[in-house]
Amino acid sequence: RNQTAARAAYVLAGNDRGRLTVAAPQLYPHMWSWDAAFIAIGLARVSTGRALTELETLLGAQWRTGMVPHIVFTEGETGYEPGPQRWACGRVCPDAPQSPATSGLIQPPVHGVAVRRILDAARGASAAERHDAVERIRAMWPRLLAWHRYLADRRDPEGRGLLTIYHGWESGLDDSPRWDAPYADVVPAPEFVPFRRADLHALGALGGAAAQRPSDAEYVKYQWLVEELRRARYDDATACRTLSFRMADVLTSALFVAANEELATVADELGLPGVDELIGYADRFRRGVLETADDHGFAADVDLRTGAVIRTPTIAGFAPLLSGGLDPARQQALVETLTSADWCGHPGFAHALPPSTSPSSPAFDPVRYWRGPQWPPVTWLLIWGLERSGEQETARALREAALDQLADGLFAEYYHPFTGEPLGARPQSWTAAVALDLLA
Ligand code: DGY
Repeated sequence: RNQTAARAAYVLAGNDRGRLTVAAPQLYPHMWSWDAAFIAIGLARVSTGRALTELETLLGAQWRTGMVPHIVFTEGETGYEPGPQRWACGRVCPDAPQSPATSGLIQPPVHGVAVRRILDAARGASAAERHDAVERIRAMWPRLLAWHRYLADRRDPEGRGLLTIYHGWESGLDDSPRWDAPYADVVPAPEFVPFRRADLHALGALGGAAAQRPSDAEYVKYQWLVEELRRARYDDATACRTLSFRMADVLTSALFVAANEELATVADELGLPGVDELIGYADRFRRGVLETADDHGFAADVDLRTGAVIRTPTIAGFAPLLSGGLDPARQQALVETLTSADWCGHPGFAHALPPSTSPSSPAFDPVRYWRGPQWPPVTWLLIWGLERSGEQETARALREAALDQLADGLFAEYYHPFTGEPLGARPQSWTAAVALDLLA
């Protein structure tokens, strides 16, 4: 295990570009928002200062609205599509920074969790390191608050306690089958010319790339939604009226609950403003998440264009384990579901870890991206959520299984649930990061 931790630190150092860690050198040669949060969680185990630099770089690309973009582009790096010219954010939207270039979407707000972890790690560091960490968290505080205000105000304008996403990419679970029905309504205009798929090219050397990534039919819709957003000039009010994809995302909302709670404890500890506001957001979104849960505590997304409730059995259904607040009976039922043969406890699995989609769903695909494979950061989130919900035994079992999976030292983007085979990009920074944290 010491060796795995050393390798994980080595991977993060290799992907370090000074003030940011690239998500994965070939496939994702830029900074991604929720990747950066997980990377900071891992880096906190090595250097709280370097972990904070990661968040400072991300927040340095914040929009005037408070939005934290899902990609911060590295200048001169052309191996990823859609690149800055496609997004054209700085050109069409006055709220976007001119530099650095960014995308015009969000990703799940895990950053508050990272800040809490960094502050905790600083406790065990030298007085000077701790002092530095506290001062830097103070300095980034207005930006963190602005980010949460943006989400609460512009992504939940009706106050239902669920965050609206404009694109599957915003959920972080890009091609999850939970989005299949809504994507049926995303139809590119006949004149739309899709761009080159750089992802397949980047993964080509590893073999099997096309089977492990979203399909072409899905990709053209992803590209078209970017085009729709650009035409809306990335204006939230316009987007809410015009986009052909608008979902209330229960997993992102649950992560927002957790991030608000974590940041509220940081504010409390450091005497920073916003404690009541953050607790207020946590309460509002917890209610929103729990309102979607069925008798077994399993949560659902809502299609805001049609009102349809989406109950596809994907990992997002376990959102209440992150938001907390389930009554004991439903919490027990949800934990039992998680460990059942439909999920982690499938007898054929190489490691008893959560698959991104239930193997009993007709949409399950063991190799294709978020349609089945196991993703280490999601495992990390569930371990963390289970620990916070008092489910220590289940958390311990997942932690052991995760450490077994990560012992291959490859730090793959995701894993085949049945064979344990590494899939997607490797080494992927966030996988190394969660390994570092789990091993600490
Ligand atoms: C990708 O390019 O696949 C990313 O997940 C989008 O953010």
